[in-house]
Amino acid sequence: MSKITIAIDGYSSTGKSTVARQLADWLEYVYVDSGAMYRAVTLFALRKGFISETQFDKQKLIDSLPEVTLEFRKNAEGKAEIFLKGENVEKQIRTMEVSEYVSPIATVSEVRRKLVEQQQRMGEGKGVVMDGRDIGTVVFPNAELKIFMNASAETRASRRFKELQDRGDKVTFNEVLENVKERDHIDSTRKDSPLRKAGDAIEVDNSEMNLEDQFHTILQLAKDRI
Ligand code: C5P
Repeated sequence: MSKITIAIDGYSSTGKSTVARQLADWLEYVYVDSGAMYRAVTLFALRKGFISETQFDKQKLIDSLPEVTLEFRKNAEGKAEIFLKGENVEKQIRTMEVSEYVSPIATVSEVRRKLVEQQQRMGEGKGVVMDGRDIGTVVFPNAELKIFMNASAETRASRRFKELQDRGDKVTFNEVLENVKERDHIDSTRKDSPLRKAGDAIEVDNSEMNLEDQFHTILQLAKDRI
């Protein structure tokens, strides 16, 4: 069986990472959560005080990028977790605070260039499933399978709200909904690598699909290309 590259893009909280992870496990491919990388850079910028409610010192972030090292390591259950400068930050990058600042950080071209380069290196040998916003358009424009996931903003916010509640985060549904809408807006209107459906991507709207149906639909598309 030949190995292919699978790019999964789409709006916030469409369940990209769930299906990407399932596919990678089934196919024995590497799964890369590119959003985790943008979130880790955001955590770095927050910790350094480069970004806050009142200011964003883009230049300081750009100048500090050489010290940002990111890597994925598997935990005991085999799930990849992200490390920022050698520290496991998998939990810290999933907070509402990071979600609020990640889209402005992801507009910075220097940040994108650095992360895209690393993502392309990770996908060099094929056999990779990567999810994000620009995977089919910029990172792997030649990917054999491109999926563009979609669902209504309310459906997406409900899923994300439940996830945050399960983790014990004190957020309201409206805060989550506003964040999802705001990120989609910034992600699709930014100048560098805006969120777009690639011309050859297959759109999957999962508002009415359960996880199993969604997995089997996309797995079949992958099998057709292997
Ligand atoms: O996938 P996730 O929701 O964790 O991504 C967080 C944010 O990172 C997105 O809202 C977007 O601003 C940015 N991102 C991006 N390009 C990617 C992946 C994520 O700009 N390939």
